[in-house]
Amino acid sequence: MRMYDVIKKKRDGNSLSTEEIDFFVRGFNDGSIPDYQASALMMAIFFRGMNEKETLDLTMAMAHSGDMLDLSRIPGVKVDKHSTGGVGDKTSLSLIPMVAACGCKVAKMSGRGLGHTGGTIDKLESFPGFSTSIPVEQFEKNVNTVGFSIMGQTKELAPADKKLYALRDITATVDNMSLIASSIMSKKLAAGADAIVLDVKTGSGAFMKKYEDSVSLAEEMVKIGNNAGRKTIAVISDMDEPLGYAVGNALEVKEAIETLKGNGPEDFYTLCLELGAKMLVAGGYAPDDANAKERLKEAVSSGKALDKLAEFVKAQGGDPDYVYDPGKLSKADLVIPVAAPETGYISGITCDEVGICSMILGGGRETKEDIIDMAVGIVLCKKKGDHVEKGETLAYVHANDQKKADECIRRLLKAYSFSKDKCEGKKIIKTVIGL
Ligand code: URA
Repeated sequence: MRMYDVIKKKRDGNSLSTEEIDFFVRGFNDGSIPDYQASALMMAIFFRGMNEKETLDLTMAMAHSGDMLDLSRIPGVKVDKHSTGGVGDKTSLSLIPMVAACGCKVAKMSGRGLGHTGGTIDKLESFPGFSTSIPVEQFEKNVNTVGFSIMGQTKELAPADKKLYALRDITATVDNMSLIASSIMSKKLAAGADAIVLDVKTGSGAFMKKYEDSVSLAEEMVKIGNNAGRKTIAVISDMDEPLGYAVGNALEVKEAIETLKGNGPEDFYTLCLELGAKMLVAGGYAPDDANAKERLKEAVSSGKALDKLAEFVKAQGGDPDYVYDPGKLSKADLVIPVAAPETGYISGITCDEVGICSMILGGGRETKEDIIDMAVGIVLCKKKGDHVEKGETLAYVHANDQKKADECIRRLLKAYSFSKDKCEGKKIIKTVIGL
């Protein structure tokens, strides 16, 4: 087989066979197929597309390019959850203890934040001593004993995807639905769970800005998951404004803890209940959504979900006292109120701008090497649909540097838009795909 012929076949609009896709992924991964030929194929796929079978073949080939985690030593159905990322997205921190408190086993690999979106691992590192760099054996043990564990993605997980994504990133071939879906799902399949619940974000703070694109991506991923024999459900959720009120690592951890105590923001709690219900149903832990949501609410009101978070933090080397006393989490030196410049209704918040504001304060990474400041961030007081009087506090900026705070406030004010007319608030759950 020659790579030249594979590229030409796709360039001319034909479908590639399983063998041709395997040949490409194996050769690209071991270095025998050079970047320039892989780039040419990516561009041909970008213009010609891939059918359902090709997309599944590419996903499976990338999933098998490294370790396929075998979770069979952990009894019970293992459920994974994945978010396409957003601003203020602390969902895993509340959701996973909630479902674990209902008996659902979760073995999850997570990533760090990059750009305007945050990452679960960074947030978890707000707990002193906490580590996600744990051996697979401990990961399995923690899922068995605590009910869930979160570890950093290993280098051996879908390495062909890692290499191909880096190439797509510099050759303008990222935004193709089949390529994105196969990239995300290759990692999910390699991570070994029996069922997968996807939180596909839509709106100005999301990877997919347009609703129709989010639906297409969700449909592609659900098809791949189910075709690969894993029960897969996707929830499309709003990311046109930050999720909850807190944006920034320790601030989000605090909000996630408050949510587990039953005092969380409504949009965030609603999302946790929706995703949690899908996880319990997909894993066979609950017969239907209504039953699942009742149990999830009980896990919160009884304090069991909060105890699960503490147990998890302790099992991974962190100090569980911080869960019960989040006031101990790191705090910024400056907490500056941001006053509304006019009276009216909030008609919108440019969500990615709020993520960038947090990054300006030092709460996010521009490059993978950047060190982040756990304490800084933004706590919104007003979201879409709320009424404000001129001078009323829109948000608090938590900063450790006055100059950065000034720049953050300048941009934050620009992110808000106002209207004299009453505006509807955002609906957090847009639709569910794959039931
Ligand atoms: N995230 C991924 O993991 N892969 C893509 O292709 C896009 C976003």
